Amino acid sequence: MESHKVLIIGSGGRENALAWKISQSKFCDKLFIAPGNAGTSFLGENVEISISDFGSIRDLILSNKITVVIVGPEDPLVNGLHDFLSNEIKNDNFIVIGPKKNGAILEGSKEFAKEFMLRHKIPTARYRTFNKKNIHEADTFLSSLNPPYVLKADGLAAGKGVLILPDLNEAKKSLENMILNKKFGQASEKVVIEEHLKGIEVSSFVLTDGETYKIFPMAKDYKRVGVGDTGLNTGGMGAISPVPFVDQKLYKKIENQVIQPTIRGLKKDKIDYTGFLFIGLMIVKDDPYVIEYNVRLGDPETEAILPRIESDLLEIFLKLKSSKLQTSNLKVSELFSSTVMTVSKGYPEKYEKGKVIRGLEFVNDSFLFHSGTKKENQNIVTSGGRVIAVTSMDKQLDKALEKSYKTISKIKFQGKTFRNDIGFDL
Ligand code: AMP
Ligand code: GLY
Repeated sequence: MESHKVLIIGSGGRENALAWKISQSKFCDKLFIAPGNAGTSFLGENVEISISDFGSIRDLILSNKITVVIVGPEDPLVNGLHDFLSNEIKNDNFIVIGPKKNGAILEGSKEFAKEFMLRHKIPTARYRTFNKKNIHEADTFLSSLNPPYVLKADGLAAGKGVLILPDLNEAKKSLENMILNKKFGQASEKVVIEEHLKGIEVSSFVLTDGETYKIFPMAKDYKRVGVGDTGLNTGGMGAISPVPFVDQKLYKKIENQVIQPTIRGLKKDKIDYTGFLFIGLMIVKDDPYVIEYNVRLGDPETEAILPRIESDLLEIFLKLKSSKLQTSNLKVSELFSSTVMTVSKGYPEKYEKGKVIRGLEFVNDSFLFHSGTKKENQNIVTSGGRVIAVTSMDKQLDKALEKSYKTISKIKFQGKTFRNDIGFDL
């Protein structure tokens, strides 16, 4: 195989972890990240282009003879970046990791995803979709459910579109607010209401060419901002991998009852999918149910799982292009990986930026994946809510966590905040 010029789209911890992994590949000739962050600037060339500026992305690809594009976040995929590039770039070697619009809609529309699951008999919570026309029927449906009530804006809402409400009247009011007052804009013109599933969540990741697949390591994400899983939902405050309670039996159930029918469904529906599927699962009494599909890797799950991949990830992506995914060998380390996110004080609500980060040079026991950082003069400063993901590995989960917390104590910035109980429930 020849070497390739690679472009990663995005600027978070997930993209820093991808850049770290791809930059080690013997097939990577040159790496670009658009727009990237301070962390990615040490691994490749950051290019100041917005992820929604498709024209500039195309120009960058053409002028640098880039042949592999890896799309980190969902937004450009849902908006058709893959379709656009496929039309614009006439090069048989060119590949985009990330689905076209007709696959990305699995994340772009909750209603589409639920219909897909129903059509292909994939276990998921009972649901109904409501809009302006049938909102008057919602009372009856809500009353048929037990609290709490799960309301999901149909479209993308920057991770904020799911409400879980304990009170029936509050649920009715929120539904009106979503549909009639467009609480999440166009995204909540339609709302999926579904049964609340009680169980424990697992993030599963599959790389697929729409016919065959490779299962990547599973992870557990810690979404709430506060200790003991309390407080507001965030993008993710930490992750661990592997997930200790996913034993061989549960793993096989996830593969047989969820992953295989999903891949068969893509094929039956003629969705030529290239990229990652992130299947959010709820394990209820030893059985997996799909909570959501995402058409990308998770953040911070990626920061926990990629250090466990021993194979050359770019080589696997290139096999995807030649429909030889099946022949690739995905080698996974047996070590535990623990990721703890440092965030800005106030996140996920209002927070300050521009705080100088110090102490990074003293870190030797962990990987640092930057989320919201940038270079300013001679310094690295905070530029987002999630600042740096700290990942450590060990044979034992508690030792891996201990290393991450020790590393965090070396990293200094004003307002540094983190959850001190990642993995507490395991
Ligand atoms: P989503 O944005 O779809 O990931 O949903 C956000 C979070 O809401 C999920 O990670 C779950 O914790 C929770 N959630 C979503 N759907 C359900 C459900 N049917 N039952 C229980 N919790 C849910
Ligand atoms: N960590 C959850 C997500 O990436 O959506």
